[in-house]
Amino acid sequence: MSNVLILGANGGIARHATDLFLKETQARLTLCLRNAARLKNTHPERMRIIECDVLDLESLKTAMAGQDVVYANLAGDLERMARNIVKAMDATGLKRLIFISSMGIYDEVPGEKYGSILEPYRRAAAVIEASDLDYTILRPAWFTHDDETDYQTTQKGQPFKGSQVSRKSVAALVVKLAETPGLEVRRSLGVSKPG
Ligand SMILES: NC(=O)c1ccc[n+]([C@@H]2O[C@H](COP(=O)([O-])OP(=O)(O)OC[C@H]3O[C@@H](n4cnc5c(N)ncnc54)[C@H](OP(=O)(O)O)[C@@H]3O)[C@@H](O)[C@H]2O)c1
Repeated sequence: MSNVLILGANGGIARHATDLFLKETQARLTLCLRNAARLKNTHPERMRIIECDVLDLESLKTAMAGQDVVYANLAGDLERMARNIVKAMDATGLKRLIFISSMGIYDEVPGEKYGSILEPYRRAAAVIEASDLDYTILRPAWFTHDDETDYQTTQKGQPFKGSQVSRKSVAALVVKLAETPGLEVRRSLGVSKPG
């Protein structure tokens, strides 16, 4: 049974992933967010809600104690966040990281140039790729609210396929990665709806 730390637990994908972890796995969850009052603990026997700020290294190290998997679902100063996550994981001896990024960070989307808006995502990915962590970076397409799980993945170096993906699909992939040791380790995956 794994212990999963969810950073940015009040985020859109993270809330879907929390539901799926609870429904489909036995994982014990630690939900980390800046304002703990925003979430209700519906499963106190296997879920903890804590306040932590990913920009604060010490609170991050504390949150990481005893975890097996770190799932980062963040927005904002992602490069600084990635640096802190790598430092805190190194300091606490954790290896497995699942990090949500965005399509377009390698200019891999045919016919699209996303420019400076993706700089924080590019720099964060570079920090993670330079670490010795067992990371999987996810590069989802535009999110939809569709109630479906239907996705395909592309590897770094391949052209991105598709243009959108449901939040639920990205969450399902996060749960699968967290629950399957070794799956897509040290990879950066494009994620989109097929067709
Ligand atoms: N929208 C799209 O179509 C699309 C497509 C591809 C990728 N993406 C990217 O995918 C990522 C995940 O998306 P999402 O919709 O799930 O994100 P989201 O709802 O914007 O959630 C991001 C979370 O980051 C948290 N956060 C920000 N700074 C933090 C800090 N210092 N410490 C702890 N938590 C912090 C926020 O927490 P608070 O609640 O405390 O503010 C928020 O809950 C985002 O980076 C998004 O830009 C989006």
